[in-house]
Amino acid sequence: MKSLLLQGDTIKGLILLGGFGTRLRPFTLTTPKSLLPVACVPLVYYQFELLSKYGINDVVLAINPHCRKYRELFSMAKSLGIKLYLSCEKKPMGTAGAIKNAKKFLQDGPFFVFNGDILTDCNLTEMFHFHKNCGADISIAGVKVENPNHFGVMIFDQNNRIHNFIEKPQQPVSNIINAGIYIIQPDVLDEIPAGRETSIEKETFPQLIEKGRHVSVYLHSGYWMDVGTIENYRKANFDAVDGKMKIEYRKDHCTVSSAKNVQCEGKLKAADSVMFGKNVIIRGTVIIGDNCYIGNGSVLQDVILFKDVFIRQNCVIENSIVGNSVIIEENCEVKNIAIGDKCHLCPHTRTIES
Ligand code: GTP
Repeated sequence: MKSLLLQGDTIKGLILLGGFGTRLRPFTLTTPKSLLPVACVPLVYYQFELLSKYGINDVVLAINPHCRKYRELFSMAKSLGIKLYLSCEKKPMGTAGAIKNAKKFLQDGPFFVFNGDILTDCNLTEMFHFHKNCGADISIAGVKVENPNHFGVMIFDQNNRIHNFIEKPQQPVSNIINAGIYIIQPDVLDEIPAGRETSIEKETFPQLIEKGRHVSVYLHSGYWMDVGTIENYRKANFDAVDGKMKIEYRKDHCTVSSAKNVQCEGKLKAADSVMFGKNVIIRGTVIIGDNCYIGNGSVLQDVILFKDVFIRQNCVIENSIVGNSVIIEENCEVKNIAIGDKCHLCPHTRTIES
């Protein structure tokens, strides 16, 4: 694919994939956050597509020692013309420590860094031009949020130069937060201590500003979602089905189903291998991964099913996320629940109304 970056620029990308993902448990107990499905496609695939779209074809994955599951990413990346390099940490190094640990891959020129848990259609060409034009040491993508008092906000001047970061501000000083996408000049790596856990947001950025280094904010106004919590993960899935994010993803993974026997009163995305019994009802937005079975008379409303989920007859599942290889026996009625991989719900399991 032709590079959309400035001619002659070869830029690398680094994706941070080594966090614990505690807020996305139980799913991250068995699957790394970046491999969790978003509308049937692993989250990191969207990042590969974005990078590839902008001609960033050399991508470093900063991962932790439990990295075996990432092997499947190589063929996925290759199909998009991306060459992957693994930078594996022996122990968790934090977001800046992980970047430092990948130094040997990143010394040729400015490089992009992505948090592995964001979904975005950020214009990387525009961000790169912004970075070059303002001569920054680091450019941070910033997004506007409604309730800045839950986040760390960035304080910057009319030239977009950042002067301060404030955690959970009580006063309305700024509503722009760090979107987890950075362009970093390679000499900044020398400012990060080696061999110890360091946070880029909490330590490196404030220290650089204190030293007078040029840290800028590039304002992104398109789609952005931090997929780090169950609620946001659910929203990201539904947004992907609704086409709110304007990057293309492989349509063969998950198609709008026109399955027989299904009374579809909402939006259904289902893998081709999904089988439906008779009189299944779909409401709200429903996403169903490979090799699932939905039994006669079951009703699904605002539900995400991972792969190999078996739901017997007359179940009602509402506002829930169901992990891989879950069996839900007949006549279950469950709502507002995140069910981890390999759970087995016996017949008539139900949630209790409070
Ligand atoms: P929580 O445990 O739910 O807070 O999630 P997390 O551990 O992923 O932390 P957080 O959401 O703050 O991390 C932001 C991004 O940085 C994610 O993509 C993480 O995978 C990544 N990350 C966090 N810590 C490390 C680390 O020590 N090493 C690497 N390689 N990546 C990290």
